[in-house]
Amino acid sequence: MALTAHRGEILHFFSDPMDDLTLGVQGNIQSNGRDSEGNDCSGYYEDGLLVLEGGYVRQCGATADLIATLPDNTPIIEHHYGLIVPGFVDTHVHYPQCEVIAAYGTQLLDWLETHTFPAELRFSDQSYAEEITGFFIDQLLRNGTTTALVFGSVYPESVNAFFTQAEQRRLRMICGKVMMDRHAPQALCDTPESSYEQSRDLILKWHGRSRLNYAVTPRFAPTSSPEQLAMAGRLLREFPDVYLQTHLSENLKECEWVAELFPDQNGYLDVYDHHGLLGRRSVFAHGIHLSDCEWQRLHQTDSSVAFCPTSNLFIGSGLFRMDKADEYGVSVGLGTDVGGGDSFSLLRTINEAYKVQQLQGFSLSPFRSLYLATLGGAKSLQLDGVIGNFKTGKEADFVVLDYHATGLLNFRIKKCKTLLEKLFVLQMLGDDRAIRETWVMGEKQTLN
Ligand code: GUN
Ligand code: ZN
Repeated sequence: MALTAHRGEILHFFSDPMDDLTLGVQGNIQSNGRDSEGNDCSGYYEDGLLVLEGGYVRQCGATADLIATLPDNTPIIEHHYGLIVPGFVDTHVHYPQCEVIAAYGTQLLDWLETHTFPAELRFSDQSYAEEITGFFIDQLLRNGTTTALVFGSVYPESVNAFFTQAEQRRLRMICGKVMMDRHAPQALCDTPESSYEQSRDLILKWHGRSRLNYAVTPRFAPTSSPEQLAMAGRLLREFPDVYLQTHLSENLKECEWVAELFPDQNGYLDVYDHHGLLGRRSVFAHGIHLSDCEWQRLHQTDSSVAFCPTSNLFIGSGLFRMDKADEYGVSVGLGTDVGGGDSFSLLRTINEAYKVQQLQGFSLSPFRSLYLATLGGAKSLQLDGVIGNFKTGKEADFVVLDYHATGLLNFRIKKCKTLLEKLFVLQMLGDDRAIRETWVMGEKQTLN
């Protein structure tokens, strides 16, 4: 099959650059980018080549090393003054909440009642679901996000609409129908039996088809009866390679409510644990108010947490303890949590993640942040075998970032001396304007 090469500055990760003090000082990832086991954690090429074959990565390395190995007439696409990185991974986002982004004046439980449930009611209308799916996917691509773990609505048609368009656009996506049988408007409620049957039908139709996977999606403990949570556990037992996504310990009032609703369980996480919902394919959004025992249990079960700083700040939920996640070795991905979060941009999400950690005395390094937005997210979703970096054989989803996208970026970038500085400035000042191009399976996407 014919090759295509992309030439430009390239950065990608092989492992978590957590142990990056040396990076922090010198900002030279090539010589210092080692993870805690001393392995090279990244590949950085100031003048690099990303060679593709049929939508997959064939090779990635320095242009000086690779260019002579290319067959004559291989097209070379030049990306000047930009940075090529793997496509971003959003590990927690709600597609039916596009219209509640930036809703004024509430915290989680009131926000759900006032803004979110009314918006989600509209997704019983198939044509509306199709329209918003198109808008949502355009927003992801406009922001450089090529993979996401997505909440649908309670209506199975909304998930069909999402998967249909994701498949047409050849995207790697995970989605699921919300399971919710209480404490919500009647028209938004299913039952334990109907949620089981609808989820099972969607799994049989979509899971493993094209680049799509299914996530069993109980909204959160307060809106599912114990019978429904048991059904979610049954689905995971019957289909062991599907995902589980839900919310966990986001807001203090929510946590108190869960304690009242489930007095026999030993804390919020235990509600899910009791019903068999923890595991390596389980992603819990937020996890702000967790005990050490809960962090330990997340680690033991290889469960992941989606850190959603824009949402945690916007709806006033609290500060995520990245130090605890690291102490207990819990895998973390970044999530925008649109519409609780106020931006589709993983760059904006990184910006807020930095500030949330600053408030707690830690400076999240720009290498770690970029890792979390790419390979780290892919790992949380057990997709690091197929996406997340430019190793040979990976699916060729990537983004070209623009160091000069705005007047301020252009001005500030010129003062930077190291890669660390450039990357950090790009993350702090960048948003969708800094996404010059998004490529999916080696195909350039139209950015709307
Ligand atoms: N908890 C239960 N449902 C939701 C939701 O839609 N968004 C957020 N951020 N938290 C939730
Ligand atoms: Zn959410």
